[in-house]
Amino acid sequence: MNILVTAGATREPIDPVRYLTNRSSGKMGYALANAGTTLGHRITLISGPTNLDIPPNIDFIPVETAQEMLEAVKNNIGGQDAAIFSAAVADYRPSSFSDKKIKKTADSLTLELIKNPDILGSARLQFKYDGILVGFAAETENLEINAREKLCRKACDLIVANDISQKGIGFDSDHNEVLLVYPERTRLLPMDSKERLAHTIIEAVHELRTGTG
Ligand code: CTP
Repeated sequence: MNILVTAGATREPIDPVRYLTNRSSGKMGYALANAGTTLGHRITLISGPTNLDIPPNIDFIPVETAQEMLEAVKNNIGGQDAAIFSAAVADYRPSSFSDKKIKKTADSLTLELIKNPDILGSARLQFKYDGILVGFAAETENLEINAREKLCRKACDLIVANDISQKGIGFDSDHNEVLLVYPERTRLLPMDSKERLAHTIIEAVHELRTGTG
């Protein structure tokens, strides 16, 4: 299969020295890229900045902002058998970029934020993508209900959902525990390394593509 993976956090600039981002390390997305290659698939990895080594034998497209990630996905999603959106895209960005460093003159400073495009949510309608579509959901409550709502709203085949209120898994950790939420069923993947979970997720995506799941 040709598989596109988005990974990492996006970075939304405020001025030449500052930006907004989030706690995503990119580990899950990079583990998916590595597992995909090991299992014989061709991987295109579109990634925000991370501290991780670029996986070997893949097409690697580095981006910074959500808008750059949107463009990269738009230009590369055609011809993919599966697309897995594990990136933690910043939902909002500063409404304007100051090309000069903002000085601390006032006692308070208000940043105006505007909504970023929903990249996963654009796949079906805007990009006319008809391959297997997999999203991620990071939730602090009602994990399965919220994930299933995202599955429908973003027209996905599968949502990989993790409960970020649980200590020791998820953000920045080497481990995770996830629910695979399908339209008709849910499967728990108990706590494991991100590498082993990535293997199982790629196998699940392959089963969806081949209709053997
Ligand atoms: N996502 C995306 N583009 C965005 C925001 C999210 O592609 N601008 C993708 C993520 O990569 C993930 C999925 O959408 O696969 C879920 O993201 P999340 O932010 O949890 O979902 P939202 O629908 O934005 O809902 P909320 O933040 O309100 O929970």
